[in-house]
Amino acid sequence: MTQTPFSQAETAAEKRLFIKTYGCQMNVYDSERMADVLRPLGYATTDDAAEADFVILNTCHIREKAAEKIYSELGKLREMRDERRQAGRDMTIAVAGCVAQAEGEEIMRRQPAVDIVVGPQAYHQLPELLTRTARARGERIGADFAPDDKFDALPVARGTTGPTAFLTVQEGCDKFCTFCVVPYTRGAEWSRPLHAVLEEARQLAGRGVREVTLLGQNVNAYDGERADGKKATLAELAYALADIPGLDRIRYTTSHPNDMSDDLIAAHADLDALMPYLHLPVQAGSDRILRLMNRKHGRQKYLDLIARIRAARPDMALSGDFIVGFPGETDREFEETLDLVRQVRYASAFAFMYSPRPGTPAAGMGRQVEPEVARERLQRLIALVSEQQVAFNQAQVGRTLNVLFERPGRHPERRQAIGRSPYLQSVHVDDADHLIGRIVPVQILSGRQNSLHGHLISQQKAA
Ligand code: SAH
Ligand code: SF4
Ligand code: F3S
Repeated sequence: MTQTPFSQAETAAEKRLFIKTYGCQMNVYDSERMADVLRPLGYATTDDAAEADFVILNTCHIREKAAEKIYSELGKLREMRDERRQAGRDMTIAVAGCVAQAEGEEIMRRQPAVDIVVGPQAYHQLPELLTRTARARGERIGADFAPDDKFDALPVARGTTGPTAFLTVQEGCDKFCTFCVVPYTRGAEWSRPLHAVLEEARQLAGRGVREVTLLGQNVNAYDGERADGKKATLAELAYALADIPGLDRIRYTTSHPNDMSDDLIAAHADLDALMPYLHLPVQAGSDRILRLMNRKHGRQKYLDLIARIRAARPDMALSGDFIVGFPGETDREFEETLDLVRQVRYASAFAFMYSPRPGTPAAGMGRQVEPEVARERLQRLIALVSEQQVAFNQAQVGRTLNVLFERPGRHPERRQAIGRSPYLQSVHVDDADHLIGRIVPVQILSGRQNSLHGHLISQQKAA
């Protein structure tokens, strides 16, 4: 038997890294990549901030609440750091992500315990920033946009484990919806070259990943360079990914209605690996509000698009995002949102109360919707989408769905495992813990708002 040599990273791991992630899936991906970049420096991740030598808050700026949470979290970290210092140890504190990009030095002004502020395009500079901090604390570097540098400089090797993984293929946004900070925090739309994405995907498949979720703020605007210098579309990328042995499921998020091209819709009809679930935010159902939001599409165009998608893939599960209480939204305009939701019949949807963000055009439109009114609208919208979600889940009862088992459930005594259906529903199955990492047909017995329950069809039970 040959002995596997320990990698340098494993032997050198004596320092502890704690990363707390807020916001969207891209932040989850970025947090993993930050851990990857710090592993060769001897940092192993921990779940306990108090025992960490290095703490990173990977932040989100999308709504006021998300951004403000960071400052109370930093206050707690400062206390932890002081306790560690009394015990003769130290703690380096970094703020990464979209708050770092948007608020920069102001973070250090508001909380001097912060050592490093690093924007989303500069994570590859973390080792250098850490080293500098050790010498002179309180420096802010690297919040400039240099996306190609970032991906080139990040290590290819990923520490991911488990059968599913995120993979960023596109970053940034040129849409400038009037309520949104993302174009300012993530910069201009930019796509990674096709070969770089495929290489990362092959590597993931080699580690046992069966499903990738391609990430981008406007992922369906993907136009990564091909070897011949031309641009590849997201559909082309999906076809190429589907050829990678072991990679059986492809998802992507988030899409913009205006970038939902014909070849992508056709790929959904054609490609088994492309899962029948689509997150396609519309934000509102009123043309006037959509115009004020600068969404560059109207209500009917969205509904027509949904009809074309369903014609190509009749079982497509749809998901969306909605904002209620946008400046000036009337009761009637809100009713149009409810009506659109009723027409589309979503499998799931996210509803948010409008939050004015500094520097965005909508923040200057005045806050004409009373918070109580907006809150009531939010409740009504949530009630409607919950109803639709329950209906969608219950409609699966009696069907047999392929489930990719991802992890053990909360009932080890029943050997429970949890996986996902093609429609991204969470499926709980007993006597299935030996099937993690496999895709197996499951008969659905019941459906609740957030999960399905099913059982294995007899052949797998013996396995
Ligand atoms: N296209 C992006 C959207 C990111 S923001 C992506 O990659 O996911 C996610 C959702 O947050 C948006 O679709 C929108 O519904 C909501 N949102 C954005 N700005 C907001 C604001 N100022 N107030 C309330 N909700 C907002
Ligand atoms: Fe924000 Fe609109 Fe861009 Fe989505 S498309 S990230 S909502 S500006
Ligand atoms: Fe938040 Fe930035 Fe994502 S603002 S939603 S973490 S792109």
